[in-house]
Amino acid sequence: MRIIEVGPRDGLQNEALFVPTEAKLAFIRGLAEAGLKEIEAASFVSPKWVPQMADGAELWPQLPPGPLYSALAPNMRGLQTALAVGAQRIALFTAASEEFTRRNINMTIEESLAGFAEMARAFREAVPGGWIRGYVSTVIACPFAGAIEPSAVARVVERLLEIGVDEISLGETIGVATPREVRRLHQELAPLLTPAQTAWHFHDTRGTALANVAEALSLGAEAFDASAAGLGGCPYAPGAGGNLATDDLVYFLEREGVKTGIDPERLAQASRPIRELLGRQPDSRALRAWEAGR
Ligand code: HMG
Ligand code: MG
Repeated sequence: MRIIEVGPRDGLQNEALFVPTEAKLAFIRGLAEAGLKEIEAASFVSPKWVPQMADGAELWPQLPPGPLYSALAPNMRGLQTALAVGAQRIALFTAASEEFTRRNINMTIEESLAGFAEMARAFREAVPGGWIRGYVSTVIACPFAGAIEPSAVARVVERLLEIGVDEISLGETIGVATPREVRRLHQELAPLLTPAQTAWHFHDTRGTALANVAEALSLGAEAFDASAAGLGGCPYAPGAGGNLATDDLVYFLEREGVKTGIDPERLAQASRPIRELLGRQPDSRALRAWEAGR
């Protein structure tokens, strides 16, 4: 099972207190030591929009060897930074909702896709063997537009595949989904996307993320995004809670007989200094139970 750790990016981007670069690096080192092999380490976005991610270019060259690292890039400027630091994996991000896309990246969906096509061409030329993730946010619901039809998600997925992304991450941005909706979306996307091209990105705002994981697993899912200690939230999605906690995901998968290669104790250790710095209790029941010694 692939687990893509998004804590250093999605987990931290919403935090008002700036986490020093050294603390971010210590977090990432801890995640690597816990066994995470794919880590989203930074965002090359406007520091005016997301100040927490302003130090990505400084952080990147210091990343510990081992895991595969990716970074978000919203536009050519972000891509140029990614190329300058030698990133081999980039993540483009748009949404199935016009309103969310406008508030998140100040573009229409169409504008975002036109920009991505150009970025993907430039990236492929500069980084042969590079890897591109395409995020689609608000795949179930949008904080501004409400319910999103699976067909709207499918339209964006098709366009991202035409652009040549290697993988699509389905962003359940505000954590409202239940298994029935996951199944409905899966049915719509199954003719377009293979499990190997799909990652599920659940937020756990209403405590439904693991139920959705179970459903996605039964539908053949091969990859999940998660954030250590359940840190996270999108600054442009009011009320969005943290990501599905990596700790909860690992507990659940292992207990279900799915190997993850991740050491829960080291995972707990990886997020502890960040939790202390931010004064946050873990947003993960498995982690709370682990730390209570049960
Ligand atoms: P804009 O204001 O329309 O763009 O923002 P602009 O071109 O006018 O630029 C504004 C300023 O930012 C300018 O600086 C640019 O130079 C600078 P100034 O001239 O005023 O000094 N700028 C940049 N600086 C560094 N790197 C860049 C960059 N681009 C412009 N790449 C823009 C448009 C896309 C830049 C902005 O909206 C933005 O950065 N948005 C990012 C928002 C974001 O990061 N959201 C969170 C990630 S998405 C998410 O969390 C969902 C996900 O987890 C999945 C899910 O859960 O659904 C992925
Ligand atoms: Mg997210």
